[in-house]
This record gives sequence, structure tokens and C-alpha cells, in this order.
Amino acid sequence: MRMRRIRNNPLMRKMIEENSLSAKDFIYPLFLVEGEGIKKEIPSLPGVYHFSLDQLDQEIKEIEELGISGVILFGIPDHKDAKGSQAYAEDGIIQRGVRKIKSLHPNLLVITDVCMCEYTDHGHCGILDEEGQVINDITSQYIAKIALSHAKAGADIVAPSDMMDFRVREIRHLLDNNGFENVPIMAYSAKFASSYYGPFRQAADSAPSFGDRKSYQMDFHNGREALREVELDLEEDADFIIIKPALAYLDVVKDVKEHFNTNIVVYNVSGEYSMLKNAIQQGLVNESIIYESLIAMKRAGAQIIITYHAKEMARKLKEEKQ
Ligand code: PBG
Ligand code: ZN
Repeated sequence: MRMRRIRNNPLMRKMIEENSLSAKDFIYPLFLVEGEGIKKEIPSLPGVYHFSLDQLDQEIKEIEELGISGVILFGIPDHKDAKGSQAYAEDGIIQRGVRKIKSLHPNLLVITDVCMCEYTDHGHCGILDEEGQVINDITSQYIAKIALSHAKAGADIVAPSDMMDFRVREIRHLLDNNGFENVPIMAYSAKFASSYYGPFRQAADSAPSFGDRKSYQMDFHNGREALREVELDLEEDADFIIIKPALAYLDVVKDVKEHFNTNIVVYNVSGEYSMLKNAIQQGLVNESIIYESLIAMKRAGAQIIITYHAKEMARKLKEEKQ
């Protein structure tokens, strides 16, 4: 067999491509801050900005015109406390942001990250006991309460990223009991305790003030354990499964794809993005490394990619079509 016979002609190569990317595969993360007149580049994430709500219109319009399916919102509140009260406040930054985006652009999917670490003064993803441990069951109730406040504001999908046990079940019950049985849950099911989140924690001011997240996020030594996490979240009625980070965890994506019939999302996280952007800026690698990396996620089995590259990649795909 001469494998090169099918590689000589560019059209033939194109014809037999097994995987492709399109703008609709993407979800773009947005960081919302309080105040007015703010559109400020995030130092740890080149080309990504903090937006105050009055500056959002143009950005959202651009995202929609590029054909990107949706945005996932992260809020940075002015006020933080032990209970993360701004996370479920009716006039919190996310609740106001969702109402604003849905009123201006009803056709864009608005997904909300549901967690407490951006809202607690200690930076952990939940409520702490005296020893500084995150209490699972109380935190799950808070997470459900936050998710409900997002649904009430008009969120299309809620995405819990806290990694508490049973939080999908808690959210589902609370949403159903309040008439939101049609709001899907996109669960961060296999979320690993990873150094790849570094640039995000700077952007969201959400690094834990002590300790780490290893008692709730997954241990990266383990792959099979991820299948258990996914199985439990599906039993609790999760509609989408997120695996996070993406690139160093594509084996997990492939395993989940083989074992479950569900909607698989990967989160191409901040550290993965910033490493590539910096390497490109320094001329170490060609820009096409972005496309190659995103294709690798599709090849492993992801359907949907949450990525800071969404806008630039969608722009590229659009240019190529013309
Ligand atoms: C909140 C949350 C984090 C990310 C998404 N949601 C940070 C963390 O768990 O510390 C990371 C996203 C990224 O790195 O791009 N729990
Ligand atoms: Zn968190």
C-alpha cells in the first residue's frame, strides 16, 4: 500500500479529511467586571479583555456575526465575602450581564459558569469549615442557588465548575421546582486540579488564599476515575459533559467518547491559550499551531470547544471560505 498516493493532490487531501472545525463548535469565555467604561486587556491572557457591561454590545455583536455558538460568562465582583453572596445576588454582575446580553442578542447562547471562587474572600470554590475544608453538601446547595439565579436572569445553560459531589442533582431539582426544567446543565465533570488555570486565576482574581483545590478537583494521575465522574453526572441528569483542561487530557476525551453517548465539551483553558500565544508572539512556532491544536480536540472526540481562540479562529475560517 502506497499511503502517499492519497496525499499528492491538495483537493484529494481536503476530500478525505476526517475532522474539521467550524465557528459553531466554539464557545467564547467573557470576563465581566463592575463599573463603567472598562475594556481592558488582561495581562495574563493576551487579546482577551475585562468588560464592564456598558462596553459589551460591540463585542457580543462581533461574536454573533462570526457564527460562534455562545459565550460562557465569568464575573469579577467588587465585593467578596465568606459566603460568596454576590454569586447569587439578583443584581450581581453575572445576573445583570445575562439580562443585558439576552436583551441585546437573544440568539446567542449564554452559558454561565457556576462557582464560588470568584466571589469568596478566601478564593475557594465553596463554603469552608473551621479547618478551611470546603463543605460538600452545603456548598452544593449554594451552587444550586447560584444556578437558579442565573436561570432566572435568562441563562440558556448553567455550567457548574465547583466539583462538589451531587451538585448536578441539587441544581436539577432546584431548577425543576422553579419552572426551569428546560434549562440544561453543562457539568464540568472531569475537571483536574491543574496548573494550566494560572492565567485565568489572575484574570478572575480567584486564586485560593491558602492551600489548593486538590480535595475537590481531580488528581491528574488518574484517567479511569474520570469515567466514574462522568457516569455520576450523567446519572444526575447532566446534559453536557466538560473535560478540562483539553490538550494534556485528550486521552480522557477519547475514553469518555468510547464509553458514553453524550455531548462532549472540552475546555481549552487559559494556560494552554497563553502558552501558544506567547510562543507565536516570540516567533517560536507558526500561528497555524492553533488550528492544529483545536483539530486534535475534535479528533479525540470533542464536539464543542470552549476556547479563548474562538474569535481569531472563527475569523480565519470565515476568510478561508471567501
Ligand atoms: C472556576 C473556574 C476556573 C476555570 C473555569 N472555572 C478556575 C479554577 O478552577 O481554578 C479555569 C478556566 C481557565 O483556566 O481558562 N472554578
Ligand atoms: Zn471555583
